[in-house]
Amino acid sequence: MEMTTLTMVLFLLSMLWSVSHGFVPPRTFRNSLSRSGSNNYLTTEELWFNQTLDHFSPYDHRQFEQRYYEFLDYFRPAENGPIFLKICGESACNGITNDYISCGILKGLVKVVSSILFGTKSKVLAKKFGAAVVSLEHRYYGKSSPFKSLSTENLRYLSSKQALFDLAVFRQHYQESLNLKHNRESTENPWFVFGVSYSGALSAWFRLKFPHLTCGSLASSAVVLAVYNFTEFDQQIGESAGAECKAALQETTKLVEQRLASNGKALKKLFNAGEV
Ligand SMILES: *[C@@H]1O[C@H](CO)[C@@H](O)[C@H](O)[C@H]1NC(C)=O
Ligand SMILES: *[C@@H]1O[C@H](CO)[C@@H](O)[C@H](O)[C@H]1NC(C)=O
Repeated sequence: MEMTTLTMVLFLLSMLWSVSHGFVPPRTFRNSLSRSGSNNYLTTEELWFNQTLDHFSPYDHRQFEQRYYEFLDYFRPAENGPIFLKICGESACNGITNDYISCGILKGLVKVVSSILFGTKSKVLAKKFGAAVVSLEHRYYGKSSPFKSLSTENLRYLSSKQALFDLAVFRQHYQESLNLKHNRESTENPWFVFGVSYSGALSAWFRLKFPHLTCGSLASSAVVLAVYNFTEFDQQIGESAGAECKAALQETTKLVEQRLASNGKALKKLFNAGEV
């Protein structure tokens, strides 16, 4: 796939926008920022289960292995503690991060409110409620790719609809395995889903689509509205940045566009995207 100028520029702008607003940058970037810290994950121990490749075909029974994680240190099964499902979005999911609410995703009001309600870290949250924390990697990302090659043909099962059913199937699978482990039948723990940005949208949609599978959903900065040619996004960046910074951004964008046209490969290399 060709990375378009627009994608590139939007990416750069969104990085700047993210940083200037205290929003959490994309996970890959965030990981490289915080690699030195050792307390960033509650767990990185990989678990696997067989997922249905196509949830909408009665004939296709192919499966693929999907990666997930569990953190049970604070789980109180005897009290039927809740299960927090942290939905992973459009990047590799390398563990259950411990930065969900603490890392400034929603600085300001929401942070204050959530810290009152939940404590400042999901660990605190889990402890308080005696919850199990689980996280499922999104199909086609990280190690959960159904195919070795991401050819256009192979990408046909990559959709948020399939991903929502992945979550539903995983939720049932995990609940059953938990019941087996604790020697009980048809118990249902209360499930609560969390997500940020794209996974925030999944979190909201999951609650809407499967109200019987979750008691609630936190959809943080959820991108639930698809807008074609979203120029208002740039406008808002311009306003927030102020006149001087806006001019610099526009100048930078122009230069990037010119360089992409004249020597795109060299420019992309600067962002470790030479092969894209
Ligand atoms: C998934 O299914 C395949 C084929 O039946 C099996 O070899 C593999 O062990 C299964 N993986 C898991 C994680 O259950
Ligand atoms: C996007 O919207 C702007 C402003 O309305 C317009 O000038 C531009 O032509 C549009 N671009 C596309 C690709 O639709």
